[in-house]
Amino acid sequence: MIYNLTDLMQKTGLNLDKKSIALLEKEKEVQSLTPYFIHDVAHLFTNPESYFFRNLSHFELLKKMSTEKTSIWFAGCSTGQEVYSASLILSSIKNKILVGTDLSRKHIDKAVSGSFFVFRESEINTLEKYKNLRQCHLHTNKNKKSVDVKFSSIRKEGISFDIHNLMDGPYSKGFDVVFCRNVLLHMTIVGKKKALCSLKDGVKVGGILILGDTDPHIFEDNWEREKYQNVIFWKKKW
Ligand SMILES: C[S@@+](CC[C@H](N)C(=O)[O-])C[C@H]1O[C@@H](n2cnc3c(N)ncnc32)[C@H](O)[C@@H]1O
Repeated sequence: MIYNLTDLMQKTGLNLDKKSIALLEKEKEVQSLTPYFIHDVAHLFTNPESYFFRNLSHFELLKKMSTEKTSIWFAGCSTGQEVYSASLILSSIKNKILVGTDLSRKHIDKAVSGSFFVFRESEINTLEKYKNLRQCHLHTNKNKKSVDVKFSSIRKEGISFDIHNLMDGPYSKGFDVVFCRNVLLHMTIVGKKKALCSLKDGVKVGGILILGDTDPHIFEDNWEREKYQNVIFWKKKW
């Protein structure tokens, strides 16, 4: 075995098995697992599943919490649908900053392209509501059961994407909101702990952290548990 499973799990925080190593060995020539190289191969062993307005109540919470200049970090955003969903629901908020990051360069390249093929009925129905916004172009395909969506003016909408490994600390500090869903559940106990530290460090004092429903709770004096509708989130007190 050229790649070492324990090393890969430590470097990504992910709970992987031998299949991931087999995929790596099939796909690439012998390389050491440098931080840069991990971004290039991460699509081989990560789950990219994402869709528009996944768990709508999280986006309603974002809307409630956002004011002019709100900055939001979407950690582990995969191909970017949650960042674009936020840009649509927050279209009236001026000068917002939406930063999407992911371990995989391939996922981020797809996010940057802003082009998506959408076939889920619920997703199409929600996207239809925003078709009059100038940044979102919907094209219904001939079969009428799927749509092509293209987002334009990404920069104008305050959106940016970048590669980032949650094992390396926060992408940046001082975000009003840090949003991370369906990422920690794929991690080892140690990976979860490290990723959670990075996420918490990314939030400014007074800001909030929104995690997935099955993610760990935070029991620390400087974090307050809050609830909006059915969503639990965490506020940084100091
Ligand atoms: C299932 S997707 C979730 C996408 C999106 N957050 C959502 O809920 O729709 C999980 C993403 O986490 C990313 N990921 C896994 N380990 C990571 C790490 N150590 N640092 C950053 N992102 C990571 C994967 O590349 C993948 O794109």
